[in-house]
Amino acid sequence: MGKVVAIASGKGGTGKSTVAAFLARALAEQGRSTLVVEADFGLRGLDLVLGVSQQTVYDCTDVLEERCRLSEAVVPIGRMGLWLLAGGNSADYMPDMQRWVRFLQLCRRCYDFTIIDLPGGLGELVRQSAEVSDLVLAVVTPNQIAVRDCAQLSRVLQQRAPLQRLVINRVPKKLNGSIQDLDEVIDRTGIMLLGVLPDSEVIQTAAEDGKALAEGKEKTAFENLAARLCGQYRPLVIR
Ligand SMILES: Nc1ncnc2c1ncn2[C@@H]1O[C@H](COP(=O)(O)OP(=O)(O)OP(=O)(O)O)[C@@H](O)[C@H]1O
Ligand SMILES: [Mg+2]
Repeated sequence: MGKVVAIASGKGGTGKSTVAAFLARALAEQGRSTLVVEADFGLRGLDLVLGVSQQTVYDCTDVLEERCRLSEAVVPIGRMGLWLLAGGNSADYMPDMQRWVRFLQLCRRCYDFTIIDLPGGLGELVRQSAEVSDLVLAVVTPNQIAVRDCAQLSRVLQQRAPLQRLVINRVPKKLNGSIQDLDEVIDRTGIMLLGVLPDSEVIQTAAEDGKALAEGKEKTAFENLAARLCGQYRPLVIR
């Protein structure tokens, strides 16, 4: 059985989709068959981030409504064992939660890792997905609102998803806001740290161009995250 990892955040825009895309690439490069499920049924974007917008025919809603099979709807990213199930374009669509849970169980049987790119917030889809997942990765940025919202996310999900790990994203070379120390982020969210990702134009540009990251500290940061998810030790570099 594979693992289902839900990528969540309290506040929107902290980098969930970016983390989902590059973490999935890193997992696949490390030999794990990986599916990224974009759980946004109204405003999809991961097909662009993963560079397959031209190949995307079916989306998540087609699988959930049984208009096609999962195997027909997933789009391969290169030849490395990575697939995307794109989100939809139906603004008002929300799947039946039992169906959604059954669908995630199917994904778990088919792939080593299923990465769910969740929308921001604490809605029912987030809570149900967290409950089915083996792990919730909470993506936070080092600013007051994101940290408070992430702490709230963690509290709300505590009963349903006891295994949570923190990814601090968009960390500048020098913290210059009201948060001066990443320990403060860890303490206030109350979630154990899995990794820290730099605020970097390299990441932003690769996401915008739908390309993989070139060798460098950004790629290494995602490789370390992926390795830790696979149970391997990688030293944590906080600053
Ligand atoms: N580490 C990073 N360095 C630089 N830019 C980043 C980084 N992570 C994310 N971004 C940029 O931040 C913006 C928001 O990222 P993203 O869309 O991944 O957030 P999100 O949490 O998925 O948003 P939403 O809640 O709307 O789904 C994007 O322009 C993305 O390229
Ligand atoms: Mg997103």
